[in-house]
Amino acid sequence: MRQILVTSALPYANGHIHIGHLVEYIQTDIWVRFQKMRGNRCIYICADDTHGAAITLRAQAEKRSEIDVITEMSQAHQADFAGFGIEFDQYGSTHSDENRALCADIWEGLNKAGLIVTEDVEQFFDTEKGVYLADRFIRGTCPNCGSKDQPGDNCSKCDAVYEATELIDPISQISNSTPELRRTPHKFIDVEKARDTIANWIDDDTLPEQTVNQLKGSYLHEPLKQKDLSRPGPYFGFEIPDFEGNYWYVWYDAPIGYIATTHQWCKANGEELDAWWRNEDCEIHHFIGKDITYFHTILWPAMLEAGDFQLPAKVRIHGFLTVDGEKMSKSKGTFVRATSYLDHLDPTYLRYYYATKLNSRIEDIDLNLEEFATRVNSELVGKVVNIASRSAKFVAKTGLSDTYPDDGGLFEKFAKAGDDIAAHYEAGDFSKATRAIIELADLANPYVEENAPWELKKDETKAQELQDVCTVALNLFRQLAIYLGPVIPGITEKVSTLFDEPLTSWDQAKTPVTGKTLNKFKHLVQRVDPAKIEAMIEAGKEAAAAEAKLNAAAGSWDDSSDALDAEPIQPEISFDDFAKLDLRVARVVEANEVPKANKLVQLTLSLGGDETRNVFAGIKAAYKPEDLEGKLVVMVANLAPRKMKFGVSEGMVIAAGPGKDEIYLLSPDSGAVPGQRVS
Ligand code: 2FM
Ligand code: ZN
Repeated sequence: MRQILVTSALPYANGHIHIGHLVEYIQTDIWVRFQKMRGNRCIYICADDTHGAAITLRAQAEKRSEIDVITEMSQAHQADFAGFGIEFDQYGSTHSDENRALCADIWEGLNKAGLIVTEDVEQFFDTEKGVYLADRFIRGTCPNCGSKDQPGDNCSKCDAVYEATELIDPISQISNSTPELRRTPHKFIDVEKARDTIANWIDDDTLPEQTVNQLKGSYLHEPLKQKDLSRPGPYFGFEIPDFEGNYWYVWYDAPIGYIATTHQWCKANGEELDAWWRNEDCEIHHFIGKDITYFHTILWPAMLEAGDFQLPAKVRIHGFLTVDGEKMSKSKGTFVRATSYLDHLDPTYLRYYYATKLNSRIEDIDLNLEEFATRVNSELVGKVVNIASRSAKFVAKTGLSDTYPDDGGLFEKFAKAGDDIAAHYEAGDFSKATRAIIELADLANPYVEENAPWELKKDETKAQELQDVCTVALNLFRQLAIYLGPVIPGITEKVSTLFDEPLTSWDQAKTPVTGKTLNKFKHLVQRVDPAKIEAMIEAGKEAAAAEAKLNAAAGSWDDSSDALDAEPIQPEISFDDFAKLDLRVARVVEANEVPKANKLVQLTLSLGGDETRNVFAGIKAAYKPEDLEGKLVVMVANLAPRKMKFGVSEGMVIAAGPGKDEIYLLSPDSGAVPGQRVS
């Protein structure tokens, strides 16, 4: 039996859980449930990440204390997680006594090992708000490529990493004022001194290959930069014991929250913390998103080593969520909060769908709303649950046959498949695991169809045959329910009730159940109703519109003059000039790559009826052809055809943005149809 401690990244207490976060928590929960079903000793630890300037700002905006903010948010987070069946063994907070004590212990270790150095730092101070500004509250022009409105730590255009103080024309995002540079002493961790620990730990066992290469090729390639771990007050966090008036930076105490929360679990369960964090037989697995790799693979090992704690066995890294191929968007209603999802849809759907998408590589995963419905309906409802719906009722009175009937080797085959499926779960390849399970369902369904219990039922002389067929069908279904247990625990629990035995162990799939009366079959899951998805998206749009109105009322639009400065308005034209331009709504009926063209995508646009246009659009860096098909766009329909190297372009699609991957196609609100004139 393995001993495994699992964590998900601690969610910030300054925002609610949305479907993007849920990729990670669902992924981790599936893995933990799998480990528990395999009989391993596994605990799942998480907590709210409560410190930092963002919390203070929120508290100020809401005119209440930081403690009120984090208490309420923690409750909301926990309710959201529970709603999706995410079951932590302990859910804590970084604002806990245990965390404060552990932060101090590790600090002492770092000091003893000579890893802490004091350096003067110039940091931006917002004189209007009276606070020092964290990097993410400053934006300005990238010192490397000159792109405007870039974040305070790295450029979204050229990927350059820099200090906020290097930004050109910095602006405080809190007050829109120009911040003042102030010089104060800070405590840094000299990570280079922990290079050996870090470099020895980074390998293919502990990290995805892609990350190993990336770390070796970047960070480890040069001396590791010192990392600033302190912030001058006022700052919501823990004051540093030997550095009055200064506080640990949120990224110092956040990961220590993993240990502190384990400590709380230990206290509640009569266990020793050292058995989990200072024990080489205990495997520590962190699940994180790709954006926080540095903190978990460079900074964290250095801190753990100084505190004499066990280094993680694995850091499992996932990509981000896109919805219908695009970033989640509030205005498009695809930035779906956990609560909003639960108002409209069954959490089982999302757990199943994410599982079918997740693998062990660091890839973004796409929630395609149409596929979401068809996949859940055809696989989970149509192929799995349907086996039980079509057989359970016929043995409601008789129960299962006393001996397991001849099924042509199906049960045995399903039992044997358990090892491969388990290996996929273990590796984090849930898409392979679910595919293998559905392949089994594809063997069970023909059995049910060929033996048609509903036909046998009509013939009284075939009562035994009917009972046998249903015994086989239900046993196969039970095996599938066990294998899917980590993904859809809600359904597996109902199946447990049906069979009157908790289906909690993988090995239960090895032995059939016979001679047993079943409990009443209750409906397991509804089909996904696409109208409900639509309603959820609409609700998101309405919420975004309401939020935008509130922001407008509060005068806090985030509109800078950058775009207009970059491209001033053109000389005035007459109405007649404008009327010459024939803008039309068009639908992209086909979109293709143009081989050898760097920027172009070839579009076939429909103007309704048989009227189509071939247009080459320079949008390749911003749009994938497959994401464009079906989309409504606006085109200049009366532009003279232009001969290009790759063919004739018969018009132009309208888009905004400075170019490259920042191109935003204009599309009409829903209701518009191809051919309509835009004026
Ligand atoms: O990126 C985030 O959302 C952080 N709150 C994650 C912290 S994970 C850990 F290290 F605490
Ligand atoms: Zn740049």
